[in-house]
Amino acid sequence: MNKPQTFRVKSFGCQMNVYDGERMAELLADRGMTVADEGADADLVVLNTCHIREKAAEKAYSDVGRLRREDGSKPLIALAGCVAQAEGEEARRRSAMIDMVVGPQAYHRLPEMIAAAAEGRAGVDTDMPAATKFDALPARRRGGVSAFLSVQEGCDKFCTYCVVPYTRGAEISRPFADVVAEAEQLVAGGARELTLLGQNVNAWESDGRDLAGLIRHLASFAELERIRYTTSHPVNMGESLIAAHGEIGKLMPYLHLPVQSGSDSILRAMNRSHTVESYLATIARVRAARPDIAISGDFIVGFPGESEADFERTLQVVDAVGYAAAFSFKYSPRPGTPAAGMDGQVAAEVMDERLQRLNERLQHHGRAFNQGCVGKTVDVLVEKKGRRPGQMIGKSPWLQSVFVETAAGIGEMIRVTLTEALPNSLGGVLAEPIGSRVVSV
Ligand code: 5AD
Ligand code: SF4
Repeated sequence: MNKPQTFRVKSFGCQMNVYDGERMAELLADRGMTVADEGADADLVVLNTCHIREKAAEKAYSDVGRLRREDGSKPLIALAGCVAQAEGEEARRRSAMIDMVVGPQAYHRLPEMIAAAAEGRAGVDTDMPAATKFDALPARRRGGVSAFLSVQEGCDKFCTYCVVPYTRGAEISRPFADVVAEAEQLVAGGARELTLLGQNVNAWESDGRDLAGLIRHLASFAELERIRYTTSHPVNMGESLIAAHGEIGKLMPYLHLPVQSGSDSILRAMNRSHTVESYLATIARVRAARPDIAISGDFIVGFPGESEADFERTLQVVDAVGYAAAFSFKYSPRPGTPAAGMDGQVAAEVMDERLQRLNERLQHHGRAFNQGCVGKTVDVLVEKKGRRPGQMIGKSPWLQSVFVETAAGIGEMIRVTLTEALPNSLGGVLAEPIGSRVVSV
């Protein structure tokens, strides 16, 4: 096979996979390859996979199968991401179509693997090298208005249901200077909002600074308007980060803080290292610092041993917090995790029924939150064109999509009065003519 000229990277799973996918694409472009045109065959396809639940992992293999072309040929295929890390050599036994298997800490070596694979030498690289991949990746290119920036990877918490400590390795923080340098590149490339990413992003620390210190530093960039971070663990929600929400205007009023379950005995079995009470106390402190903050969460229903009473406690936490947004999942036993072997696995029908009840409750609170925004006048960062002529779509401080008719361009911050709550977004009208804020300073 000739060396590939065109490529496509497809990412699944979390925002960190999206970030990794962007960096792989930049790496390949840096080595002279070009992104395949929409609808055209690519010479190389990178599937950047997710292993978090069984469905996501199985999808990786069905997607590989679908890459077979009508004439029987196939592109070079790299299986990347967390399925690659978890399965290694096994992935190539499951599908002979896969030419390369590359884990999330080894993808900076893709160019060499591709050169070898083009000569018929398949490769598997699931090393977790101590020298980080970041040093080997090219500088960030011009990107979108809102950019992801990985600052922390891996997890030492070992929740008993979760594959992340195995697929992403131990917790590491990228050094302060590296993060700042990448942030500068992104802002120079047009980013007006940065979302700092980490599996336990609020555990980030470097050179005696914590995440609040990093955010404070980034907030001093004149052209950077907004800062967000995700995902946080309740035990790392320290006082300085909580205080930062009340002190740093550019830090958006949004916190994704998964609780997983509202039952202390289930939280213990999950090895979550927090209780319902300590979680709710943290939320209360965050709200005291920033009263208008939107809280979002993750939930698992049907963890082994979860009784109806345990589940009802989860519903109580949902009501107590009033989540603005949430992600809810049925427990999925993952190979190699302690919970997969626990007694009391919950029947599929019971999980279905609980998930439905949970979702109804979460939707109720999500709608109430959106409804409560109607009438407020807020800053909206314009991100893209809407479907209707003259319509643009931006983001509110609380991460809702806002539809508004405006002549403002992508990357501009506009004042919008929110007029309408739709199921997954808000409608609004311009509160001030564009540019008036600039004139009035
Ligand atoms: N089954 C179901 N949901 C899971 N999550 C993590 N592992 C599992 C699993 N084995 C969920 C958690 C986590 C989110 C990213 O995915 O809610 O916060
Ligand atoms: Fe999926 Fe977790 Fe890997 Fe993200 S870190 S891709 S959620 S398994």
